[in-house]
Amino acid sequence: MPFLATALDRVKPSATIAVTDKARELKAAGRNVIGLGSGEPDFDTPANIKLAAIHAVEAGKTKYTAVDGIPELKQAIIAKFQRENGLTYKPNQIIVGTGGKQVLYNALMATINPGDEVIIPAPYWVSYPEMVALAGGESVPVVCTAEFGFKLQPAALEASITPKTKWIILNSPSNPTGAAYSRAELKALTDVLVKHPHVWVMTDDMYEHLVYDDFEFTTPAQIEPKLFDRTLTVNGVSKSYCMTGWRIGYAGGPAELIKAMSTIQSQSTSNPCSIAQWAAVEALTGPQDFIDAHNKVFKERRDLVVSMLNQAAGIDCPRPEGAFYVYPSCAGTIGKTAPSGKKIETDQDFVTELLEAEGVAVVQGSAFGLGPAFRISYATKTSDLEDACKRIQRFCGNLR
Ligand SMILES: Cc1ncc(COP(=O)(O)O)c(C=O)c1O
Repeated sequence: MPFLATALDRVKPSATIAVTDKARELKAAGRNVIGLGSGEPDFDTPANIKLAAIHAVEAGKTKYTAVDGIPELKQAIIAKFQRENGLTYKPNQIIVGTGGKQVLYNALMATINPGDEVIIPAPYWVSYPEMVALAGGESVPVVCTAEFGFKLQPAALEASITPKTKWIILNSPSNPTGAAYSRAELKALTDVLVKHPHVWVMTDDMYEHLVYDDFEFTTPAQIEPKLFDRTLTVNGVSKSYCMTGWRIGYAGGPAELIKAMSTIQSQSTSNPCSIAQWAAVEALTGPQDFIDAHNKVFKERRDLVVSMLNQAAGIDCPRPEGAFYVYPSCAGTIGKTAPSGKKIETDQDFVTELLEAEGVAVVQGSAFGLGPAFRISYATKTSDLEDACKRIQRFCGNLR
């Protein structure tokens, strides 16, 4: 009898973490490597947020808290949803978890029965299909090509809904493409969803604040109030507030669902870190001006990377609306030969050869459900990005 659970057969380890680990390994071996694989801001957590955590420790806020979050943080989240999204929640409609990742995972664990289908527009964040698999469900990837800005089209959504559909997971701005739905684009999708009352909406709004060029962020329950009672609006402080290591995410949704998620949390991890929760209160209620300052830098980096990649032979890089990712196609390099003599047949070959030849770590698009392409995270020092793009240009120029 195998020792490990059969559930593990259904799950792949994270490709993004694998690339980050590989880059770290090469660096430790003395190679000059630029890692563009990791999905976290290079900016430090703002000082006022760190101070709030220090004060929490000093004040002895170091005990277990309510499983679903301290009342003060729930109030801050309620105020945030009201202020920024026009959504009105009560405390029993809010849950705080150990990162957005746990919130999404618990929602799936709390709702998926064997055979339930979850629609996932591709390219997708690597964890969605794996979480669905762990929960015993079936993911239904719907490929959204660059031609449509990597966005799900209403007809494709309609065609993918079956009587077994339980959820659709939407993620705007998107990891890995940076694509974000305009109000009109999202409304076209919510118009379809309104007609299918058995389909619930899980919206992952983690990159809400990271949008550029005056793009206006919107979220499904705000656009279509008829969906409010079957939408889980997931968000967190990791990306906007540079708090990836603090592990605080949250969601607003129907009380019955929130209660079920809280039950799972209570028997697995209990409350998220008490100190990080107090830091998150400060993040959501304190000054917000650093977000604009960071966005100015992110936008400059996006423009730099898009422009430099489009000068690389065989690369085609769309300009996304938000997040800190670009998702260029490397279709024009397929069939060519790398300096090592290896023929590039897939995007996996492209990223492996790029790392070997030029020491630039990116993630292959096939890991996100659409290739041949790769994802670059531009949440990295601008000088390193410029260097990395020059190396990519050189690598592509040297392909024969
Ligand atoms: C789309 C998306 N959702 C959720 C998460 C998880 O965020 P957290 O760090 O809060 O768990 C990430 C992190 O990479 C992400 O990219």
